[in-house]
Amino acid sequence: MKLIVIAVLLCAEAIRVSSDCPTIISRNRWGAKPPKQVQTIRLPVEYVVIHHSATPTCLDEDACSKRLISIQNYHMDVLKYNDISYSFMVGGDGKIYEGVGWNKQGSHTTPQWDSRSIGIGFIGNFTVEPPQKDALDVAQQLIKCGVAIGVVQADYKLLGARSLKPTESPGDALYKEIQNWDGFVRSP
Ligand SMILES: *[C@@H]1O[C@H](CO)[C@@H](O)[C@H](O)[C@H]1NC(C)=O
Repeated sequence: MKLIVIAVLLCAEAIRVSSDCPTIISRNRWGAKPPKQVQTIRLPVEYVVIHHSATPTCLDEDACSKRLISIQNYHMDVLKYNDISYSFMVGGDGKIYEGVGWNKQGSHTTPQWDSRSIGIGFIGNFTVEPPQKDALDVAQQLIKCGVAIGVVQADYKLLGARSLKPTESPGDALYKEIQNWDGFVRSP
């Protein structure tokens, strides 16, 4: 009897943890092509890096999927990366799209930082206006999810891409926004 109660409590705990996680549109669903090479990283990561794609945004799954395909093509064919550079992307539709995912090394900063971080790229150019509230919310939910499932350190540091490489990313308006988020630091 005691064992059954414990089992039920454990199940309830597992469900609670996974319900912290937003729905993630898988690579398969948005139409990703396979990576050229895969390098896994050590988890949990210490850093979360926020980027913008500096492309037009997208407002529904169909448009966002097309945008991800074009970003992946550019990263693999022109920039010669192994895959799309980000761990995840956030659409203007308020949905999370899987990039390389939690446990694979992206190419969103430099190898030194890529191996110790996840990179979240907002689809759009957020120099003047920040992303919509539901996009901002779902990105923060994704980070909380990462902590809950043990792939992001509880005391993670959150950075704008501009703190790790010469870039405007994540755009002035989004950079201002993330300064209010948990874990924000100006330099690693
Ligand atoms: C992003 O928007 C800013 C302000 O409108 C513009 O100056 C910049 O060129 C844009 N970036 C890209 C890569 O299009």
